Amino acid sequence: MQIYKVGGAVRDRLLGRPVSDIDWLVVGATVEQMQAQGFRPVGADFPVFLHPKTGEEYALARTERKSGRGYGGFTFHASPDVTLEEDLIRRDLTINAMAEDEQGTLYDPYHGKRDLDERILRHVSPAFAEDPLRVLRVARFAARYAPLGFKVAEETLGLMRQIAESGELQALTAERSWKEIERALMEPEPQVFIEVLRSCGGLMELLPELAHGADTLPALHQAAKLQQPLPVRWACLLRGLQPAAIKALNQRLKAPRECQELAALVGEFAERADHALALEPASLLEMLQKFDVYRRPQRFEDFIAACEMATLGSGYPQGEYLRGAAEAARAVDVKPLLESGLTGQGLGEALKAERLKALEAYKSA
Ligand code: CTP
Repeated sequence: MQIYKVGGAVRDRLLGRPVSDIDWLVVGATVEQMQAQGFRPVGADFPVFLHPKTGEEYALARTERKSGRGYGGFTFHASPDVTLEEDLIRRDLTINAMAEDEQGTLYDPYHGKRDLDERILRHVSPAFAEDPLRVLRVARFAARYAPLGFKVAEETLGLMRQIAESGELQALTAERSWKEIERALMEPEPQVFIEVLRSCGGLMELLPELAHGADTLPALHQAAKLQQPLPVRWACLLRGLQPAAIKALNQRLKAPRECQELAALVGEFAERADHALALEPASLLEMLQKFDVYRRPQRFEDFIAACEMATLGSGYPQGEYLRGAAEAARAVDVKPLLESGLTGQGLGEALKAERLKALEAYKSA
């Protein structure tokens, strides 16, 4: 049997980027031979094993045929006679379809190295279309490698367009789609992910809410430049949508709760925050209460960050003002109210009244 390093590890080493996990490909072996050598099988469906010592993934060379719609609609053919070339041709991009043997010799039948040098994301073969998730993967790689100057090849964009038009993107599970979206948002140029999806028609299929409406991509880019966390990036992207659209999008994709919450809060309160300096204390208080700034200070910080990103670095004095207001409201001491015997709703109302007074003082200071 021959063992090759494949996929992202080869690609990223050639790009001079850090390699996080290594995928290995085994040609000319049977399941029984692998098990006899102590490899542990991973899944029932895939001929993939974990190395007994390193825990790294070793996959038997295989060919794939699509047998139905959506994920799961695959049949695999793994056997010792599947060649390296046959395994590599079913992969998504040429830059992901290179292999390296134990001596460090590069096997590159589909010219991944040339595309890497020319900064092109190009599909390997028509087998690309067998997994519609690859439309998102390509857009994600475009977002990741945009700073290096990578572009999607015209013919690949054409194929992605066909996949989008076929409606197959809608058959992807929320979990698989979100995983790609989340990773794409954390890349250095996440707005490129959206642009690529838009240019192939995938945006309309997957995130139709974002297909029209305000241009939030500069804010998203700004959030990436300032290394903001995922919920802030997600909220920046969704800003300006109607609350119902934000909710629908979040639920359909099963976005994590932090992302859902922040996007909804930005949708509802960003405009109010932009006018913070002119707000009446009552309106300011309502907002702080809604945010529960007393117990969730970080969420309020993330909200301010999301609002600030839309100014693209030109400054957001409203942020400081809002922080000061939260501080003033938070400083109200509940102890004297408790000592006066208040409980339940009465206590809540008295506390609110004290906070309002604090905000009035803050505003006039
Ligand atoms: N692959 C593919 N189609 C997919 C998923 C994966 O062709 N839908 C192939 C590619 O050859 C890829 C390899 O499997 O390089 C490993 O996939 P994965 O670990 O998901 O990605 P990496 O390329 O390692 O990239 P990343 O840096 O994003 O992990």
